[in-house]
Amino acid sequence: MRDISSLPLPARDAAHQFPIVFQDDIAYEGPSGVAWAPGRVNLIGEHTDYNDGFVLPIAVDRVAAFAGRARNDGIVGLWSTHFQEYAQFSLEGLPGTFEPQRADLPGWARYVLGVVTELARANIALSGFDAVVGGDVPLGGGMSSSAALEVATAQACALFSNGHFTIGTEHATLKPVQVAALCQRAEHIASGVQSGILDQAASCLGRPGKAILLDCRSLDYAYLPFDVPDLSLVVLDTSVRRALAASAYNERRQQCEEAVLLLRDIIVQHEPENEAALDIRALRDVTQEQFDRYGSYLPEVLRRRAAYVIAEDARVLQVVKLLEMDAFEAIGQLLWKSHAGLRDEYEVSCIELDTLVEIARQIPGVLGARMLGGGFGGCTINLVRNEAIEALRQAVEQQYPIRTGLQAGFDICRAAGAAEWSFL
Ligand code: GLA
Repeated sequence: MRDISSLPLPARDAAHQFPIVFQDDIAYEGPSGVAWAPGRVNLIGEHTDYNDGFVLPIAVDRVAAFAGRARNDGIVGLWSTHFQEYAQFSLEGLPGTFEPQRADLPGWARYVLGVVTELARANIALSGFDAVVGGDVPLGGGMSSSAALEVATAQACALFSNGHFTIGTEHATLKPVQVAALCQRAEHIASGVQSGILDQAASCLGRPGKAILLDCRSLDYAYLPFDVPDLSLVVLDTSVRRALAASAYNERRQQCEEAVLLLRDIIVQHEPENEAALDIRALRDVTQEQFDRYGSYLPEVLRRRAAYVIAEDARVLQVVKLLEMDAFEAIGQLLWKSHAGLRDEYEVSCIELDTLVEIARQIPGVLGARMLGGGFGGCTINLVRNEAIEALRQAVEQQYPIRTGLQAGFDICRAAGAAEWSFL
């Protein structure tokens, strides 16, 4: 049991609200508890995850949190502090009853149902529970609020399973990367977005003061120090959320898959002696040299998409080397380049994201900035010397509303730990 004052604020808030919201005479079992999981930023490696490539996320000190207690009747009852809304579903018949139950639930609760469904599909023994669900990851803002909710759900299920289901690196039912993969599948069925594993992996693997280098094919990962006292990660929120983001995301993914098939055929045709070319399965397998030689055979849109992904994968590995040398100026340069590629080649930026990056670019001491996550709104990530934070804040406050008619959110994040739970 942890001292309540050491819990993340949303977990504390949810714990405070639980006995107020759920007062009835449900047959509860076992002690009450809290579970939480972080959102993430991604230093670099955007839209590389579903291309079997590399990403470099950082779990941040913003979480989704559950506080509640196990029930003995197979019902999951949820109160969202954000939406001020109650939702419930039954464990009975899952995964078979997923579709009809999903249809009756509000969007936020579908992620919870999605995770519970995937746990049931994996034959993991689950108990019902009641919980207050809260959090401070900006919703839909590119910091992975949905992944934080999914991973926190898995933690909550472990917490309320009375020891039948455990998450951990040794002797546990599921390892953190397995939880990430399961939560990724939950995201697919809950939202219909064919997302990669970046967000869920960051939420499962985060460590204070560390960035995570993840190979999205093997799911091998390594920690890199990211704890620089005179630098900050500033997240600027465009305050724009666009409904088209989901379909555009799936379209990008499909375009990458088409580009790989075409590139493989072109390379096989031109280099019949190159047996390795037959094994090209993802853009990750296409070298820069091969792309320089054969990329022009692709239809123009596919050529641009592939050009971005191949260059971005290389940038991730460059940043890893630069991090080891504390070469933050050079890392910043790669962030600007990443943004340019996302804007011009991958075409997932928007005028508001570009505006925030342009404003940041004028400020000495902002080493680099780029859009974060899927795109079409949401946030930018800015690598900023501490002495430049105020200048950036002022420039954004003055220029962003004039240029866009909107207000931007301003947040400073720290590299934080992964999902956790505690009895109360
Ligand atoms: C979203 C998806 C991730 C990843 C990013 C882009 O956050 O959920 O899987 O593809 O977009 O890097």
